[in-house]
Amino acid sequence: MTAFLRTDPATVRVALDARSYDVVIGRGLIASLGARLAALRPGAKAAIVTDENVARLHLEAVEAALAGSAIAAGRVIVSPGEGAKSFPVFERVCEQVIAARIERGDLVIALGGGVIGDLAGFVAAVVRRGLDYVQVPTTLLAQVDSSVGGKTAINSAHGKNLIGAFHQPGLVVADTAALDTLPAREFRAGYAEVVKYGLLGDAAFFSWLEANWREIFKGGPAREHAIAVCCRAKAAIVARDERENGDRQLLNLGHTFGHALEAATGFSERLLHGEAVAAGMALAFEFSARRGLLPSAEAARAIRHLAEVGLPAGPQEIAGELPSLDRLTDLMAQDKKIKRGTPTFILARGIGSAFVDSSVDAGDVRAFLGEKLAKQ
Ligand SMILES: NC(=O)c1ccc[n+]([C@@H]2O[C@H](COP(=O)([O-])OP(=O)(O)OC[C@H]3O[C@@H](n4cnc5c(N)ncnc54)[C@H](O)[C@@H]3O)[C@@H](O)[C@H]2O)c1
Ligand SMILES: [Zn+2]
Repeated sequence: MTAFLRTDPATVRVALDARSYDVVIGRGLIASLGARLAALRPGAKAAIVTDENVARLHLEAVEAALAGSAIAAGRVIVSPGEGAKSFPVFERVCEQVIAARIERGDLVIALGGGVIGDLAGFVAAVVRRGLDYVQVPTTLLAQVDSSVGGKTAINSAHGKNLIGAFHQPGLVVADTAALDTLPAREFRAGYAEVVKYGLLGDAAFFSWLEANWREIFKGGPAREHAIAVCCRAKAAIVARDERENGDRQLLNLGHTFGHALEAATGFSERLLHGEAVAAGMALAFEFSARRGLLPSAEAARAIRHLAEVGLPAGPQEIAGELPSLDRLTDLMAQDKKIKRGTPTFILARGIGSAFVDSSVDAGDVRAFLGEKLAKQ
């Protein structure tokens, strides 16, 4: 193992002036949560928002840590799954947080994956016109992506994440040991977002992943290192472009294709978000090669790594029947990253060199996708 790997917690600062905060990453950090919150907001009460799965596995440890620092904490438990990002659940969580007398100066704690982070973060954004909150992400996806950056949302009948707010947390505590209880398929799906950071802006990290991914899956210090690299990359991008007017769009690598595939499969167990992103990144690299932006051997290398870890490296690997070309292009046209009718694509000039392209011709994409779907 390389010398720079560390076992003490890593701290990444998200620099946003008065809204700056730390992301702390390390194994066993939940035990230190009480002391960290007492230091962050002395005397604050807390409401822990979590889902049933995470409550069963990790809530006791969190409550014990808070009790150890004499922090009074209530719990709000919702059913697991994307369904929690809905108006009815949002309303219930708001009312329970208010009933628990969480006031300005107190804390909402989002304990769980991206669903809980998005839901509890949005609750914190609006209850009493804004409460402070802390993210304690328990999925790999949440630790490397959704817990950092302050995007919060629930879903509309018209689409995912259409009702939300930018609301930065006051602290993110990523305990990498919490990932030990995560189902293997969820871990692998989250790993797609780890690969994304290499593919979009860090070729050396991508090479390191090719050599070390097994260690990350096993849970050694390589896991903490990988998560810290991703958080550092996300923090830098968010600091440059908090509200996604420019650079932050790079984080959508694989997501325009990916969201269409997710929507086409009904946001179901059939295709997890990270799996859709993997297939989407494979498409983005292949499409970039097709446009002569990078050598096809380079695109093949990106795709090979996704396939090696067991992620779908293209739509042809998604189980079951796929939608028609018309339906897929329709779904892409509804993507919320659309500005005045033109979908934005993140393309690549190489591994580690992604860029935002808003001038991609819809007909080219359609022809390319048509070929990919026909090859199944
Ligand atoms: N805000 C952002 O910037 C952002 C970025 C990416 C994704 N997201 C959102 O994140 C959501 C997906 O997040 P996710 O993949 O973490 O899904 P999730 O929150 O649904 O978690 C996946 C599953 O794992 C379970 N789980 C969580 N932690 C566990 C643990 N430690 N052990 C065992 N089981 C555990 C959950 O109960 C759930 O069943 C989507 O709604 C997506 O829109 C938001
Ligand atoms: Zn994603």
